[in-house]
Amino acid sequence: MTGVGALQPDVAGFAPIGQPGPPGPPGRDPLRVAPLAPHVIVLFGATGDLARRKLLPGFLHLHHAGLLPHCRIVGVSLDDLDDAGYRQLAYEACTRFARPEALQKHWPTFSQNILHVSMRDGPERLAAAAWEAEQALGGDPRRLHYVSTPPSAVAEVLRSIEEAQLVERSRIVMEKPFGTDLATARTLHAGVHGLFEEEQVFRIDHFLGKEAALNILAFRFANGLFEPIWNRDHIDHVQIDVPETMGVEERAGFYEQTGAFRDMVVTHLLQVLAFMAMEPPTALEPQSIREEKNKVFRSLLPIRPEQVVRGQYEGYRDIPGVAAASETETFVALRCEIDNWRWAGVPFYLRTGKRMAEGARIISIAFREPPKSMFPAGSGVGAHGPDHLTFDLADSSRLSLSFYGKRPGPGMVLDKLSLQFALHETGFAGDVLEAYERLNYDAMVGDQTLFTTAEGIERLWEVSAPLLADPPPVQPYPQGTWGPAAMHALVAPRSWRLPFERKWRQNP
Ligand SMILES: NC(=O)c1ccc[n+]([C@@H]2O[C@H](COP(=O)([O-])OP(=O)(O)OC[C@H]3O[C@@H](n4cnc5c(N)ncnc54)[C@H](OP(=O)(O)O)[C@@H]3O)[C@@H](O)[C@H]2O)c1
Repeated sequence: MTGVGALQPDVAGFAPIGQPGPPGPPGRDPLRVAPLAPHVIVLFGATGDLARRKLLPGFLHLHHAGLLPHCRIVGVSLDDLDDAGYRQLAYEACTRFARPEALQKHWPTFSQNILHVSMRDGPERLAAAAWEAEQALGGDPRRLHYVSTPPSAVAEVLRSIEEAQLVERSRIVMEKPFGTDLATARTLHAGVHGLFEEEQVFRIDHFLGKEAALNILAFRFANGLFEPIWNRDHIDHVQIDVPETMGVEERAGFYEQTGAFRDMVVTHLLQVLAFMAMEPPTALEPQSIREEKNKVFRSLLPIRPEQVVRGQYEGYRDIPGVAAASETETFVALRCEIDNWRWAGVPFYLRTGKRMAEGARIISIAFREPPKSMFPAGSGVGAHGPDHLTFDLADSSRLSLSFYGKRPGPGMVLDKLSLQFALHETGFAGDVLEAYERLNYDAMVGDQTLFTTAEGIERLWEVSAPLLADPPPVQPYPQGTWGPAAMHALVAPRSWRLPFERKWRQNP
């Protein structure tokens, strides 16, 4: 486990090679973040948006960081590209999305590790290319299959892996969406389990690759201060808020079939909720952390339509590929509850949407308010709402604790103040691996901690069923706003944290 361990001693980010590293799966040397064993990476969907923006630049950076010294990438798509043609595509992608120093230093050698085969040439061609790559690496290199194709192509990809006899010595990384409801998720999982053991399957959720998400575990469990109050006796409510300014124009076809709830809530936001709400795992290792997350999902109450506000930004129906009377939501806000001893009665408010006023990824915990009568009238106690602990999950991971403090001078006047911490203050900010790089590193060392389980996904579709069966109508909201007004009634008498009253302090 590359992330959380790196936080001990009190650092954030990725421990540089040779420095005290993370406690990993049993038998892994905690003092060294080991370079990966030789790998053949079979990248299905090799010419797609994700492959170009994240995966190819990510593998190049892992190579640059000395973590993926020996690999061969076999790109697979429907295109009829030869190796040279695909290397050119990969070069253009890395020129746009990779770290320049990685490109300059390694492209000439790294590019020679890249091959391409077309799916249309059949499993024999794929088998031959993989065999050629393994011969070039020598020994018994590991195999990583990365499925970055549209969901409709997954069954065909699994068939080609089987027919090319590439299941042995391999792991498979699956991209969301993991089905569109309980039935389709079960079908997908049955197909995958027909070929792979669950230990070989890595269902990726890039939200969980972020330093900040890992920081939550360290913050909760490496400090004696927070865990004792991390429950319904002290916490009034939690908000997980991920507004986005971008629209869906580029992927309207996919989005029109999906919507904000399936695209962001069932995947990212509920996964982050589990990190927030889980019981302390017995160890920072895959099995116990995933089990604690699944226990949270098992305690989630079904999401009822009346607890949900769905919105659609004005102009969405004019996008090519969107139905004129589309009822697809580009915004969703909901209340969900975890019915267990730690959280019963504490509302978790989740919100996400496209074309909103600001982009952000925050978790905001509001603590129960103290008795106030001891403070004189006009002191300002409670005037700015409860104390908040806020995690900023964006790349510049930050956290803040707001509290009331006495204003210097005569009398008792209270102001809302905040303690703030930002990753860049640790001096390790530069060592951070991007989410997809970290997750691919973990998949190649076989560490499933940050990957979602089939059981967890099916449980989340189960609790979503009442909403999916009877979704409330979408309510229009102007682009560049915070969403439909009805979202305020959802949280009343509380209020949404965003937009923040106070801005984060900028780094000097
Ligand atoms: N893009 C993102 O930011 C993002 C983020 C999170 C998750 N995802 C997920 O990642 C997956 C890929 O997304 P994307 O945006 O990269 O899609 P995309 O741009 O549409 O690319 C799809 C890729 O799959 C290939 N492909 C299509 N059918 C295939 C088949 N039958 N066999 C082999 N290859 C096939 C395409 O090849 P051709 O080019 O030859 O047609 C192309 O390389 C999807 O599941 C998506 O939900 C994407």
